[in-house]
Amino acid sequence: MKRFSHAPIEKNVILLAVLTLLTVSIGGLVQIVPLFLVETTIERVAGVRPYTPLELMGRDIYVREGCYLCHSQMIRPFRDEAERYGHFSLAAESMYDRPFQWGSKRTGPDLARVGGKFSDDWHAAHLRSPRELVPESIMPPYAFLDRPLDATGIAARLRAQQTLGVPYSDEMIANAMADLRTQANPEADGTAFAARYPRARQGVFDANPREVTEMDAVVAYLQMLGTLVRFSDVTPEQIRQP
Ligand code: HEC
Repeated sequence: MKRFSHAPIEKNVILLAVLTLLTVSIGGLVQIVPLFLVETTIERVAGVRPYTPLELMGRDIYVREGCYLCHSQMIRPFRDEAERYGHFSLAAESMYDRPFQWGSKRTGPDLARVGGKFSDDWHAAHLRSPRELVPESIMPPYAFLDRPLDATGIAARLRAQQTLGVPYSDEMIANAMADLRTQANPEADGTAFAARYPRARQGVFDANPREVTEMDAVVAYLQMLGTLVRFSDVTPEQIRQP
C-alpha cells in the first residue's frame, strides 16, 4: 500500500494554512453547533420571567450609565464567591438579558444577587451619594437620576426584546406604560400587573411618590436582581454545576 506523503503539505505554507483552518473549523463546528440546537443548553428554571417595564427601563439606564464597567453580574461557582454573594449564577437567570450584563470588571462588588440585600431607601441614598453611606467608596454619585423618567418608548423597547426572542406577549406590550406606572405606585391595583409579572414588587422605590423618576427604575431593577429563582423550589438537575 502506498503511504500518504505529507511532503507537499509541509513544503507549501499556504496549503498547510488552508488545511489547518479546515481541520480546526470542523472541530469548532462539532463543538459549537450542538449548543445552538440542543434544548438543554439553557435549562428552564422555575421563577425566571422577563423584566417588568420599570425594571427594563432601570436596566437600560444601568447600561447607559456604564454601571457594568465597575460591576459584574455573574457569581462564579467558587466557595469564596458563594460565601460573599450567594448561590452561583445560573445561565437561566440571564436568559432574558439582552445584552447580558455579566461584565468583566469588579471595581465594585458583584450585583447578581443584590436584590433584597438593602432597603429601597438605602439604594436611592447610596446612588445619590455613595460616600454618605460607605465613606471609603469610590463609586461616582448619580443624584441626577432623581429626574423624571422618560418612558415614552417603553412599548417599543418591549417589542424590540420580543423580536430578540424574549417572551413578551402582545398583551404585555399593550399594557407596558400602565404596568410601569402601576409598579411605581403601591396604591394602584396591581392584580393584572402581578398576573403578567409574577413576584414583581410594587413600591415607591425612591421615597418620592409624586412622580416616576429614573431613580425608581434603577432601584426597582437592582431590587429584583437575583431574586427570581427560589433555590428551595428548584431541583438539583436544574442547577447542575457548570
Ligand atoms: C467607578 C466604578 C463604579 C461605577 C461606575 C459604579 N459603581 Fe457601584 N460601586 C462601586 C464601588 C467601589 C462600590 C463599593 C462601595 C460602595 O458600596 O459604595 C459600589 C457599590 C455599589 C452597590 C452596593 C453593592 C453591595 O453589595 O454592597 C450598588 C447597588 C451599586 N454600586 C450600584 C451601582 C449602579 C446602579 C451604578 C450605575 C448607575 C454603579 N454602581 C456604578 C463602584 C462603581
